[in-house]
Amino acid sequence: MAIRKIARMGHPVLARIAEPVADPTAPEVRALVADMIETMIDANGAGLAAPQVYEPKRIVVFQAPAERAPEGIDEEEAFDHTAKLTVLINPEIEILSPEIEQGWEGCLSVPGLRGLVPRHTELIYRGFGLDGERIERRARGFHARVVQHECDHLDGMLYPQRMTDLGNLIFETEARAWLEARAKEEEEAVDA
Ligand code: NI
Repeated sequence: MAIRKIARMGHPVLARIAEPVADPTAPEVRALVADMIETMIDANGAGLAAPQVYEPKRIVVFQAPAERAPEGIDEEEAFDHTAKLTVLINPEIEILSPEIEQGWEGCLSVPGLRGLVPRHTELIYRGFGLDGERIERRARGFHARVVQHECDHLDGMLYPQRMTDLGNLIFETEARAWLEARAKEEEEAVDA
């Protein structure tokens, strides 16, 4: 296993359509996935796609809650390093709800920045695991967001390209100031 260098926005490997994996159980796929997981954890990311380590193959890894939150509980599905790790090869997404939600995203290939990105709130993803097993899961909230972000990498898409207002693309060092200013605006709006 090795920590790989992460490609940054502007490198062509991030802009191309990645190739399907012919055999998910091949030893070289297992070796690449091991490197991807080590790289993701080292970089403190919630997910990583193979093109981000200069391998244009349709493979993503991510950590997100596997199950949707129980109905009736307003539970935010937040990123948690203890969350189940998913390896997904040749993934496909089926959108379940037309509902769109804005949420903050970052990307290891766009270091230092955060952006407010619209994503579908609920979907089913399908693909294969390292043993060739079929994976099919329903995801919502943060889990659905991570899957959409990672699968976008396989189609040459980075999150700023999904943004509807680049005024919401900020340096993470300014996030606190940005949020404070936004909260103040809302407070004033309520007072008015
Ligand atoms: Ni990313």
